[in-house]
Amino acid sequence: MSAIPQVIALDGPAASGKSSVARVLASRLGWIYVNTGNMYRAATWAVVEAGVDATDEAAVLRVMGAISLEVTVEKRHSIVRVNGRDIESELNSEAVNRAVSHVASVEAVRSQLVAMQQRLGQEHPVVMEGRDIGTFVFPDAPYKFYIDAHEDVRLARRGLQGQADALQERDRIDSTRKVAPLMVAEDAVIIDSSHLTLEQVVARVMEILHERGLTSPAPH
Ligand code: DC
Repeated sequence: MSAIPQVIALDGPAASGKSSVARVLASRLGWIYVNTGNMYRAATWAVVEAGVDATDEAAVLRVMGAISLEVTVEKRHSIVRVNGRDIESELNSEAVNRAVSHVASVEAVRSQLVAMQQRLGQEHPVVMEGRDIGTFVFPDAPYKFYIDAHEDVRLARRGLQGQADALQERDRIDSTRKVAPLMVAEDAVIIDSSHLTLEQVVARVMEILHERGLTSPAPH
């Protein structure tokens, strides 16, 4: 294992387009795509299933202690399971959207999931998307991007996906929480995707990776 992790960190607010960018990028490079939002969503799904108030930290921790949450890599994508069950199709429900920022504010939840994310990045070359990947999970990542978009564009994207999601409220909680809040890493390249197609964002990222010596596909 090299000292510098083979990590491309993609951070940004909700619905900024980073998941799509991360997926395409990972596939072009032959790297593993890791969606860390889905890990927080899986924990939240368990909290919702248990009928627990997501703002009740002690109750959230009791749920976390009672479940087994694991992440595996399948077909080059990270997959989360709760008690052995693949719940991917239930991770974007309105109830999960509403509760996820509260669950993600709990320090012990974050430390458990961050450890899993760091392990993945040590075992594979990864394109990892989230909120704190370049700032906290992999501060030494050699490639960091912050994908942004105007709020009205992000709201329109969620609408097109048919999802009810209070983005502004989620962004407010994600950006102001005490532990690893959403912010731009000092050494991240900011890309505003508001007026760019997915292909244009990917092309811009690839151009920067090439300038920095990362050729495609990268060595494993
Ligand atoms: O990327 P997403 O919208 O699916 O993420 C869902 C929530 O998970 C987001 O509102 C905040 C939290 N999250 C986080 O705190 N840290 C991450 N690295 C990824 C997501």
